Amino acid sequence: MERLNISLEDVKVVYDGPEGVLWELIMGEQIHVGGFKSSMELVQKAGIQQGWKGLDLCSALGAGCRFLVKNCGVTMCGLDGTQTMHQKAQERSQAEGLADKIELRLGDVTEIPWPDNTFDFVWGEDAWCYVVDKDKLVSEAARVLKPGGTLAFTDWIEGPAGLSDDEAKRINTFMKFPYMENLEGYKTLIQNTGLTLVSAEDLTPEYASYVDFYIKMLTDQLSYDALKIIGDDMELFQAMGGEMAFMGQKAHEGKMGRGRFIARK
Ligand SMILES: C[S@@+](CC[C@H](N)C(=O)[O-])C[C@H]1O[C@@H](n2cnc3c(N)ncnc32)[C@H](O)[C@@H]1O
Repeated sequence: MERLNISLEDVKVVYDGPEGVLWELIMGEQIHVGGFKSSMELVQKAGIQQGWKGLDLCSALGAGCRFLVKNCGVTMCGLDGTQTMHQKAQERSQAEGLADKIELRLGDVTEIPWPDNTFDFVWGEDAWCYVVDKDKLVSEAARVLKPGGTLAFTDWIEGPAGLSDDEAKRINTFMKFPYMENLEGYKTLIQNTGLTLVSAEDLTPEYASYVDFYIKMLTDQLSYDALKIIGDDMELFQAMGGEMAFMGQKAHEGKMGRGRFIARK
């Protein structure tokens, strides 16, 4: 897949600005497909255990860390590159009385600011599609895992039917993704780091129904709120709706979707 010239600086513009707020409106504090339900499935697949210390890469509003602390009895660190997200994550963890169990840092996930062999698990939910150098990201994740530690993540990926270059360019430009991996690509990246792949699952059909669900929410319930976030710009709202509809169509065709990956060090 052609790689677009999109860097962390471009992604920061999204998550420092109204688009980030819009994603929270659509998905909730956990900015990923399936929210609580998806996180719980990832917990079960990964076998997360009480007392473990985890790292959430691209932790955004910190809801992934708070979810894991509240539901799994773990302690968490979170790393995100966007100042607004980092600040809101700190405020919300403080407000929920969880700040003593969550350490949040601002930084790039391809240069993880923790030493080797620190974490029992490394976690990611629907965010690594924004990262240019996914090879470095996965090898950094492997580096900070303790021996025997678990890597568990979901991500938006190219679907099994594959996107044409034009389709990929349109979706990646709208989403500000440099490129999306596919299932085989992630399997290779994981295995190249020396981690043992436990599972790689394609969740594309489920993903397609979620895109339909988001479009229905935006058109049938949340239009006023979404418009307010983007300065009541109806033209932009309709253009964004058109791009989401295009993604939904490609998802139903099996061309773009979502994957879930588990590996052990
Ligand atoms: C979709 S949100 C993540 C959602 C979060 N995992 C959750 O489930 O709530 C994407 C996040 O990735 C972060 N991000 C993207 N590229 C990054 C990078 N190279 N380093 C650190 N953070 C990055 C953005 O700042 C943004 O907060």
